[in-house]
Amino acid sequence: MALEKVRDILKDADARNASVIAFDAMDYPTISSAIYGAQAVRRPVILMLYPSMDRLIPLEAFAAMVRSLAATVSVPVGLHLDHSSDFSYILRAIRAGFTSVMADGSTLPFEENVAFTSSVVAVADAFDVDVEGELGHVGRATDGDDKKEDQYTTAEEARVFAEKTGVASLAVAIGSAHGFYTSTPRLAIDRLEEINHATDVPLVLHGGSGIPHEQLEVAFRKGINKFNVGTEFFHLNQVAAADYFKENPSPVNAFAHIDSVQAKLQEYIEKKLLLTTWEI
Ligand code: 13P
Repeated sequence: MALEKVRDILKDADARNASVIAFDAMDYPTISSAIYGAQAVRRPVILMLYPSMDRLIPLEAFAAMVRSLAATVSVPVGLHLDHSSDFSYILRAIRAGFTSVMADGSTLPFEENVAFTSSVVAVADAFDVDVEGELGHVGRATDGDDKKEDQYTTAEEARVFAEKTGVASLAVAIGSAHGFYTSTPRLAIDRLEEINHATDVPLVLHGGSGIPHEQLEVAFRKGINKFNVGTEFFHLNQVAAADYFKENPSPVNAFAHIDSVQAKLQEYIEKKLLLTTWEI
């Protein structure tokens, strides 16, 4: 199947009251395990590149790899640029074939965030590319940002932001944060419901690593349509390689560890994707 537009995947998710899971990836094993994992459990999936990973895999190569692997499976696969506040980098992603980009103006004051995000939407529209904005600030778990309720998104601001910018989706701050949590996060489901009633735009939950599954199931039913995961997946990638070399200190086959890591990554992806009720 050819790459699917992220907006179409999210529209479908919204109609089903479900969420698609989006994984950050950074090389062939991480990208292919996510796509083949999605195929195995018949779930749609979105592959994302985090800009700092560009030193490991330039975004042009990332886009080409996702595009060609998507064509080998029969479930919808989306391609998205994760967090960028750099206008020229976003343009480069659009030129490279990313069909969806995140314009992250969440550290800016409201009006400046609106202006920055709108400027990206104006260019992206011309190329039929979707833009995800962020309002409120999701931040980092190690800074305790998941507990900073004054950074949470408000329903009224979300409504105005979506209207003024024309974003295709909106990342909201409701008690999650990036990286490993220092204590169990508690999603503000009431706030999520308020935001979801205030705007029709599909909502995105960042900081997916370590949120208890019971909370995710509720969040998916109450308005989250895209759920981002990175840290957990990358950590597994590292641990699976370390475990392999512990068990095989002097491997004869120079490539066997790649197969071993990839199998563990795919197992993780399948389990994670089964959290969503949306079967293709
Ligand atoms: P984690 O790395 O905490 O899973 O968050 C990923 C994310 O939100 C990427 O945008």
